[in-house]
Amino acid sequence: MVLKNRKIENKLVINPSKILFVLNNISEYASKKMRSDIIPLLDFTLKEIINLMNAKVGNIRLYNTSAKKLLLVASYGTSKEYKKMKFSIETGESIAGHVFKTGKIYFAQDLKANHLYAFSEFSLKEKINSLVCIPLVTKDKKFGVLSIYYPKPKKFTNEEMEFFSILGSFLSNFIASQTMQYRLHKIYISIATTLINILEEKGSYHRGHSEKVKEIAIKIAEKMKLSRDKIQIISDFGILHDIGKVGIDPSILNKPDKLTREEWEIIKKHPINGMHIISPIEEYIKDISFIKSHHEQPNGNGYPERLKDSRIPILARIFSVADAFEAMIADRPYRKALSLEQAKNELVENIEKQFDRKVVKVVLNLIDSGELNEFI
Ligand SMILES: [Fe+2]
Repeated sequence: MVLKNRKIENKLVINPSKILFVLNNISEYASKKMRSDIIPLLDFTLKEIINLMNAKVGNIRLYNTSAKKLLLVASYGTSKEYKKMKFSIETGESIAGHVFKTGKIYFAQDLKANHLYAFSEFSLKEKINSLVCIPLVTKDKKFGVLSIYYPKPKKFTNEEMEFFSILGSFLSNFIASQTMQYRLHKIYISIATTLINILEEKGSYHRGHSEKVKEIAIKIAEKMKLSRDKIQIISDFGILHDIGKVGIDPSILNKPDKLTREEWEIIKKHPINGMHIISPIEEYIKDISFIKSHHEQPNGNGYPERLKDSRIPILARIFSVADAFEAMIADRPYRKALSLEQAKNELVENIEKQFDRKVVKVVLNLIDSGELNEFI
């Protein structure tokens, strides 16, 4: 690689405590933000790595087996136009494609003088001149490429090359294990969602009840300005709030007459059963306790733990109202649907007995402003 009259930078201070700090940030993010989508974690990881390495721009491309291409899944420091383009590249194409094909890390000191590099327009536009391209590869398979760009031509020292190799190996294993967890998590959720659909098919609720309760709970949470994380939890897992009912005999769930004491005791077990069903993924998810606590009541007469007022988690308080409201305005085996006015009165009458005051207030506002019309 010939470099003529161009200023070459070769300094990169890698502070050990900064490295540990960044790795800790990434693993904390991964443990806190378990979701059905891995992209936010890749975005976060990329941003942390680019800043750690004093670089300017970074991309993560993952190999898509059906498209047979490397797709851009995370990009940091690039322009909006570039992010929008989301262009994919072939294996073997340009430096990233070459690195994916060979499975070997590649250092390009000066992109303008590099014969493999095929996107000089991109480097001009994004004002980048050198690149470290790291294969994302585990013992079993190659699955992507991480590119780290610097604004100026740069001579990489042996120490830096070694560091990037170790970093690449760490990130490969980290991303691969996280991706596996997300996939398992997705599979688990889809199985659980199928169980919910079967439950609804069995007639214990009208079709779509669980989905509607989830959507109403999202509207309430948004209105209450809950954090994005909490809203995401509702969005990902809200449909499972009654998953514990899958083991209950449909003749009890659908009984048009008054339940016997024994039958009622069986019904009351569904929040705990739900937690058992969800337990394989519970350790990854914060705030999933709404499944256990969505039948608690502010007056302490709920179940299973007879929690009171603010000891009931906020998501559980929201689900309690959303679930009851959705059930009120639908036909049930033992009664016809209530009118909207009757449902509103029922909610108000049970404030601080069965329902949280703030949540009911928000629901009444949502009804009056027409924001729940699609569910009524
Ligand atoms: Fe329930």
